[in-house]
Amino acid sequence: MLTASTALFSRSITKSGSTLARRSASIWANVPQGPPDPILGVTEKFKADKSPKKINLGVGAYRDGSGKPYVLPSVKKAEKLLFDAAGDKEYLPITGLAPFTKLAAELAYGKDSKPLVENRLAITQSISGTGALRIGTAFLARHYPGAKTIYLPTPTWGNHIPIAKDSGLEVKHYTYFDKKTVGLDFEGMKADIKAAPEGSIILLHACAHNPTGVDPTEAQWRELSDIVKEKKHFPFFDMAYQGFASGDILKDAYAVRYFVEQGHQLLLCQSFAKNLGLYGERVGAISFVCADAEEKARVDSQLKIIIRPLYSNPPVHGARLVSAILGDEALYNEWLSEVKGMADRIIDMREKLYNKLVELNTPGEWGHIKSQIGMFSFTGLKPEQVDALAEKAHIYLTRDGRISMAALNSNNVEYFAESVSKAVKGEL
Ligand code: LMR
Repeated sequence: MLTASTALFSRSITKSGSTLARRSASIWANVPQGPPDPILGVTEKFKADKSPKKINLGVGAYRDGSGKPYVLPSVKKAEKLLFDAAGDKEYLPITGLAPFTKLAAELAYGKDSKPLVENRLAITQSISGTGALRIGTAFLARHYPGAKTIYLPTPTWGNHIPIAKDSGLEVKHYTYFDKKTVGLDFEGMKADIKAAPEGSIILLHACAHNPTGVDPTEAQWRELSDIVKEKKHFPFFDMAYQGFASGDILKDAYAVRYFVEQGHQLLLCQSFAKNLGLYGERVGAISFVCADAEEKARVDSQLKIIIRPLYSNPPVHGARLVSAILGDEALYNEWLSEVKGMADRIIDMREKLYNKLVELNTPGEWGHIKSQIGMFSFTGLKPEQVDALAEKAHIYLTRDGRISMAALNSNNVEYFAESVSKAVKGEL
């Protein structure tokens, strides 16, 4: 009798020669080729392009005015402080560096926020925002008392979907973006959130919605808070851009702080990749607003149970850098002006891009380039136009038409606008 694997092996030999035979003989013979990541795959294509004109508008990573990665001066100072302090390289506790998580919570919620003052915020350090989301969704999959369904906006950050699914949550969507107005479809959003079964998990981008750059207004956040409360939904905030959206950390934290004031028991993911430029340090946090200190202790214990088999405990360096900056008045103030500087440079690029597209009589309405907020602009470019930009102009962006505004600067914005204009006119 042939076993399944020998049958496969002999079939493949008779089928098409030695390569297939070798493949079938391997343990990994049936591993299918996966597609490239929709965002990070763009960087791979960009790197393979040898043209001096090339521009990578794919990944959301800040670049300075000359297109170079930017290490914030406050971060450089903190690096020096850490070097001089010559700290050890011991393991951190499972939930991370305590001064870091305290400062991260204060930054997001405010020092006087009730959950902090009343010692009922469970918080852990995470491997940046992605790690926070992964811990959060895993926690919900285990402990959320309602249906394990998470509602994500359409569209949302591409990674939200696999993160939630890999953690075992069912993914559903709510309306967010209106293609016609290139703005928020607030009526559609409210209707869908109202229609979701009571007690659903609703993921909300706290500020600088990725990929659209379209946020609810403060008044709209207040309405959303009422709906979420009325429906007993669970608000799950992803805040990857505090300070980076408007240049003001308080303004960008409005939704989170308002929801907390309204008594929501929310969950919050934070990232320090963008606002401190600590992309590769992978430093973030996830926190849960609990009812009291005793509940917080139980949630803490379960966070440890999730994290320990995943990666044991988080890396120390990025958390020390963040603590050195947020915990020192002078460095903190310096950082506030740096984060504003990054936000302002992006706003300036929006203006320049808009003006150039209009000057070139580019068909369509481009006002959204200026009204959208944060790292990205959702241009409305079609997948074929995106492909043409890559093939003909060496310009790389995600196929949904999202561009990272941070990669534009005074040396490449005109070339980009001219290329977009040609792509839209079908002249590329
Ligand atoms: C992005 O959306 O480009 C960033 O958040 C980076 C990433 O990991 O996708």
